Amino acid sequence: MKLPAKGKTRDELDQQLKLEAAKDVDWKGGKIWTLVYYAGDDVAEVLGDTFTQYLYTNGLGPTAFKSLQRFESEVIAMTADLLGAPAAGEQPGAIGNMTTGGTESILMALKSARDWARDQMPHIKQPEIVVPITAHPAFDKAAHYLSVKLVPVPIGDDLRVDLAQAEAAITDNTIMVVGSAPNYPYGTIDDIPKLASMALARGILCHVDSCLGGFFLPFMRKLGEPVPRFDFAVPGVTTISADLHKYGYSVRGTSTIMYRSGDLRRYQFHSRADWPGGLYGSPTMTGSRPGAAIAASWALMNYLGEEGYLERVKSTMDTTRKLIAGINAIPGLTVRGEPDMAVLAFGSDDFDCYALSSAMRKREWDLERLQRPKNLHLVITPNHAGVADQFLDDLREASDEVRDQPATESGEPAIYGALESVEDTSNLNDLILGFIDGLTRVDADGS
Ligand SMILES: Cc1ncc(COP(=O)(O)O)c(C=O)c1O
Repeated sequence: MKLPAKGKTRDELDQQLKLEAAKDVDWKGGKIWTLVYYAGDDVAEVLGDTFTQYLYTNGLGPTAFKSLQRFESEVIAMTADLLGAPAAGEQPGAIGNMTTGGTESILMALKSARDWARDQMPHIKQPEIVVPITAHPAFDKAAHYLSVKLVPVPIGDDLRVDLAQAEAAITDNTIMVVGSAPNYPYGTIDDIPKLASMALARGILCHVDSCLGGFFLPFMRKLGEPVPRFDFAVPGVTTISADLHKYGYSVRGTSTIMYRSGDLRRYQFHSRADWPGGLYGSPTMTGSRPGAAIAASWALMNYLGEEGYLERVKSTMDTTRKLIAGINAIPGLTVRGEPDMAVLAFGSDDFDCYALSSAMRKREWDLERLQRPKNLHLVITPNHAGVADQFLDDLREASDEVRDQPATESGEPAIYGALESVEDTSNLNDLILGFIDGLTRVDADGS
């Protein structure tokens, strides 16, 4: 495909954009239960306006863009406060950086851990991290990129990491123990105080992945809900990832990686002093940094304030309770374990829940499929308050439709984020890689 010789008019473009967008899932109508965290038109307006104003700015130039330096520092300071960091002025206070997403935050935490261990524990030649199997694949990816060995730990019946097996997985080469608050598949929080104390006892690091919960759990606690401790208030927790572009409701491309101390964060940075282009330093993985996303996050946090987040968390938890009660009331369906916030898995021991997701698709609901074992998945947002009743009605009807299809462990999982099931399960890694490879290819017919 070639660049068009002449540009299109704005009208032509707008028309085509509308046509293309119409092919997407109806996320604004609450038909999808993953990928999008929509918190209202007013929020979208604040984000959009700020983003437009800061469109061309670059967070790599903190002296050129003093405003961005202030915004990032304030976003980080507010996040530290939410995550139980010592009060401002107390030394050594928690500190961090904004990144482009949960994966980059996790990558940075692991990079710091690896380089810290090289410095502080030079006897370790092959560093290892101990990670629950429910933790996000970003850990696997980061471990792969950074040549760190990932040691997976099973979960128990309560869908939280098995602590005895976590303890047993720690060796002389372990540099970091990981817990999720909460994990993506089940929405359960691992026992962070126990994991952190294992790490503390050995003088190693403990990362809490709170990409999902970092901007949700603190407000739940303020609403008086029972939230287990998962943050810097827990001795031994050294780093936390918390995503602004999930329950922080900011634009895609925004997360935070937080450190208990600035000493550890130093291992995250990169510098090069002899480059002909000048002295080069960069705090995170990207070079240029999206100033618009930094500014939009700052604007949104100031727009919503504690009150705005509390309102949204309350409404989301009301919807979550309604959905849990409604799902459990449908014969044969069960919510798995005890989810700690607005993320959950449900399935059936009687009938095939993948058939249920297909039956829901006919009713225009996109339900994500979990595997090992088979379940379906909900990430509940403020946007789902208005559709929960209809969803439950359709779920009841769809369950009756597939009730005669027995539950089996065989069947077609779906590629995460693609919502499409796969038929040939003989070599899943090749299949996933082929799928990703195909995504950026334009076919002859332009599709
Ligand atoms: C618990 C958890 N950690 C990390 C990530 C990765 O975040 P991102 O997709 O922003 O890289 C996710 C994404 O869903 C998540 O749920």
